Amino acid sequence: MFAELLTHPDRAWPPSGESPDWSAQSVAPRPGAPYGRRILHASPAGEVLLLQWAPGIATAPHDHGGASGWVRVLQGQLEEQRYTRQGQSLQARGWRSVSLGSVSQVGAQDIHAMRAVGPALSLHVYQPLPPRGMRLFPAQGPALLVGPGCGAWWPAC
Ligand SMILES: [Fe+2]
Repeated sequence: MFAELLTHPDRAWPPSGESPDWSAQSVAPRPGAPYGRRILHASPAGEVLLLQWAPGIATAPHDHGGASGWVRVLQGQLEEQRYTRQGQSLQARGWRSVSLGSVSQVGAQDIHAMRAVGPALSLHVYQPLPPRGMRLFPAQGPALLVGPGCGAWWPAC
């Protein structure tokens, strides 16, 4: 059913009348990690992820391996910060709120970080299946390419 999100990326999904039990499907974050990640769907067309957030722990600035997509807040509230990169220096643009039910678009070139204000769940859709690993960006210095099983936080796995 989650493959529908890739072919019909309707931001009102799921349709009215359907209400997945997101909490029951989510994975709790490990201690110190910003989120626990459950892959709901993965195919060459893309991937659908459910994230359960630990309050107050931000991800590292990261990209999405050349894929683009969107994030929808299912429970709670998230905050997002975008970055620009000049050479090997990262410039933060400031945190903004991503409230319950709203969507944040993530472009293939975007670098961002996210954090939860309190307990939160979010749905993430990326297309195509990321053609390369995610990159994590330190404030200064070269980006670190991490594998598909890794999350967006330091220390990288
Ligand atoms: Fe992200």
